[in-house]
Amino acid sequence: MESDRLQEQVELIRQVFEYVHLFKGKTIVIKVGGSVMDHPFLPMLVKDLVLLHRQGIRIILVPGAKERIDDVLRRYNIPWESIGGVRISTPEAIPFIKMAAFDVSNRLMTLLAENNASAIIGNWVRARSLGVLKGIDYQDTGTVEKINVELVRKALDDGLIPIFPNIGWSSSGKPYNISSNELAYILARNLKAEKLFYISRHTGVDAENYTLPEGVTVSSEGVVTHLSVAEADSFLRLNAKKGEEEILELIRLGCKACAEGVPRVHIVDGEIEGVILKEIFSSRGCGTMIYTNEHENIRPLRLADIPEVLRIMNPFVEEEILLPRDEQELADQLDYFVVYEVDGILHACGALIPFPEERGRGEIAAIAVDRTYTGFGIGKRILTYLVDRARSSGLRSLYVLTTQTTDWFLQFGFSEGELDDLPKDKRRDYNRLRNSRVLILDLKNFRSTP
Ligand SMILES: CC(C)(COP(=O)(O)OP(=O)(O)OC[C@H]1O[C@@H](n2cnc3c(N)ncnc32)[C@H](O)[C@@H]1OP(=O)(O)O)[C@@H](O)C(=O)NCCC(=O)NCCS
Repeated sequence: MESDRLQEQVELIRQVFEYVHLFKGKTIVIKVGGSVMDHPFLPMLVKDLVLLHRQGIRIILVPGAKERIDDVLRRYNIPWESIGGVRISTPEAIPFIKMAAFDVSNRLMTLLAENNASAIIGNWVRARSLGVLKGIDYQDTGTVEKINVELVRKALDDGLIPIFPNIGWSSSGKPYNISSNELAYILARNLKAEKLFYISRHTGVDAENYTLPEGVTVSSEGVVTHLSVAEADSFLRLNAKKGEEEILELIRLGCKACAEGVPRVHIVDGEIEGVILKEIFSSRGCGTMIYTNEHENIRPLRLADIPEVLRIMNPFVEEEILLPRDEQELADQLDYFVVYEVDGILHACGALIPFPEERGRGEIAAIAVDRTYTGFGIGKRILTYLVDRARSSGLRSLYVLTTQTTDWFLQFGFSEGELDDLPKDKRRDYNRLRNSRVLILDLKNFRSTP
């Protein structure tokens, strides 16, 4: 009996080593919900986070302050109003909101210090006013405009744990009350995090309370275990009437994070002891995970998309990175093009033009990612999708003509080729003034992870 238990422990230790190896050097963003900030398990949670940090996992913390802000405003008799879950922050309330936001950040700072971990609180978030929406003036409530990613990376490189209070500043230094849920999503996206955690009082999605899309897995505890982005999207549509519930907001942000490059988002219950270790170091996990299916968000080009695709391509055409194309040309090549869409907005496009009769070759063309969304892995996903499409259409090799993107393609297994490597027609039409480089990919050599 004793030896069985020991064997189990050995297995567990092996598993943990493997996971540590997998996540070493990776970034994890953790939003600690306001209710968890007051929970007796908080010191234990912080201890676990420090353990992860010591294994070389880069941790970023975003403490929720909602409950603390409510407390402080109540104590100082400052009235407030929230609409659709968003607080209207009056100029009178903002000093108290700041105080509460830094108070919860300091609490984490203190607990980290107790565990000998170095942390830092910074003013790295640029925010702007949310403004007037549907006639409601949200006053000093703001939205995240940008994050000083370089400074945050530097802090992480120095082994620090950055803590982000839910305050952002305008370029003139005016403070705004921002949503810590939104902040956590933007941090995860901009820092290319491996995981985003929302630790709250939700044990993930409670299956009983919601209409679920078909085929979704529910645990024996009645929790939806995982949702792909498409499933999460349809979950949101099926439950739209429950509009203001926080869990729906978390799923919405989780979907966006996944679509914009974060592989996994976990919504877990902070009132479960050891929740973060369970979620990272076990293949089962607890709570609900939203995950990226590499090919989600990519769909064929439609005629109605053409103006938007031209808008995305235009700056690159002006810089002579892409060939100019007009509406008619795109309409003629509709079947070859795909687009990347998030929340109904196009972020990118790309095309595979097959020449099967030419020794199973095809051309990769017109990959363009909207400048606002570059660096989130969208280009890689479009290319991977087109490569998969090429394989399933029986092609054996691809080529691309490029002036300024050689290094990007080389990392995926493309190699430099010659004009003679192009199909006959393409050689004839080759624009010598443009002098593009010819890159070739034998599909066997494609590397989706550069
Ligand atoms: C090149 C392009 C498709 C990349 O899209 P993306 O979504 O930003 O790409 P990913 O997020 O998958 O990759 C980003 C990485 O590629 C690197 N990268 C971007 N453009 C690059 C270039 N021209 N050369 C070398 N590397 C480049 C980035 O520095 C980033 O590196 P990091 O991950 O180490 O930070 C996009 O920048 C684009 O639309 N460029 C203009 C059009 C173009 O050149 N198309 C290709 C010709 S068909």
